[in-house]
Amino acid sequence: MNSPFQPGLENVIASETAISYLDVENEEIVLRGYDLIELANKVTYVDIIALMLDGSLPAEEQRTALELKLKSEEGLPQRVISIMQSLPEQTHFMDALRTGISSIASFDEELEDRSPEANYRKSIRLLAKVPQIVANSYHSAMNRPLVEPQKELSYSANFLHMITGKSATALEQKAFDQSLIVYSEHEMPNSTFAARVIASTQADIYGALTGAVASLKGTLHGGANEAVMKMLLEAGTEDNMEPLILGKLARKERIMGFGHRVYMKKPDPRAMLMKEALRELAAAKDEDRLYQMCVIGEEVMKREKGLYPNLDYYAAPVYYLLGIPIDLFTPVFLAARTVGICAHVIEQHQHNRLFRPRVLYNGPRGLHP
Ligand code: ACO
Repeated sequence: MNSPFQPGLENVIASETAISYLDVENEEIVLRGYDLIELANKVTYVDIIALMLDGSLPAEEQRTALELKLKSEEGLPQRVISIMQSLPEQTHFMDALRTGISSIASFDEELEDRSPEANYRKSIRLLAKVPQIVANSYHSAMNRPLVEPQKELSYSANFLHMITGKSATALEQKAFDQSLIVYSEHEMPNSTFAARVIASTQADIYGALTGAVASLKGTLHGGANEAVMKMLLEAGTEDNMEPLILGKLARKERIMGFGHRVYMKKPDPRAMLMKEALRELAAAKDEDRLYQMCVIGEEVMKREKGLYPNLDYYAAPVYYLLGIPIDLFTPVFLAARTVGICAHVIEQHQHNRLFRPRVLYNGPRGLHP
């Protein structure tokens, strides 16, 4: 054993992949050869599903066929709904999502088939059902009637509608669709790595995604978007933003939505796209205060710590202005990331090498009972 110990596997290459790559030097997120930000400005989330799972952007008929396929797989088994409804009131929505995804596995007749074709079909089923689990876990916790998918709406418009129960403006639909795209895939974050580690034992795609949900819940990862919104609400005004952040920094607290293992001292291109979406939404909704608070926070963190905002920092206020309950911010992130994680599980199953690292043992030796 002569490979150096890297705590947190920092900078360690863990997989070979043709799915995505963070080119930090050139500030580009490469998705199957395309620039993620350019994709977010030019295509829809359904196109990203095709790109991730089929390997190329769809022609119009392929997109229509994919949309129909997704719609045909909508709907949750009644017994899954009953399981979700039986969860205690205080259940975290990421835990409800984890339970929901885990429980639909048992209803999939292709569960044990690891072939790329079966994994593709299961990915489509997951993409059709996860938004419904996210939205209805919330409605069921609030003792509200469940919301059924609207067949005439696009994938992302339907997802937003199932959460808010309202019809969204074109600007709102665009912001939400773009947020799903920028959340869709991001190389090897903790949750994707967790899914690949699970899949490397030849475990099924539902199990791998369930593990990824557990990983994404943490505040150092997906849970940060909810924490960001709570911080913005705590500040409440532009004037309070700087003292709030300085106080937290003085107490050595982390400011949620800043820093990133890979970018750290470079801007996260996804955050800048969501910043623009926030500016537009805030202007349309007469909520400029929220946008200005975020800008102040960004400036303070740059000045004090040399840190840039990550995606969660600007996605959080966008979701807030879209009327998404804060408790659903991280579940929505997971729903968007489902496509990326499924692509990674399919790739792992196709080119598998069991993950089984070693340790740097620092415990005692030679003891006897
Ligand atoms: N607030 C204050 N200081 C920070 C922050 C932050 N958000 N992030 C990093 N730092 C500081 C650390 O204190 C440390 O400073 P030091 O060298 O003076 O001790 C330095 O930056 C390096 O930090 P590490 O913890 O070593 O960096 P790591 O790569 O482990 O952390 C992480 C990355 C976990 C994302 C970190 O930046 C963080 O905690 N951010 C807040 C949580 C967050 O926003 N997570 C979302 C990630 S993006 C996503 O999931 C879409």
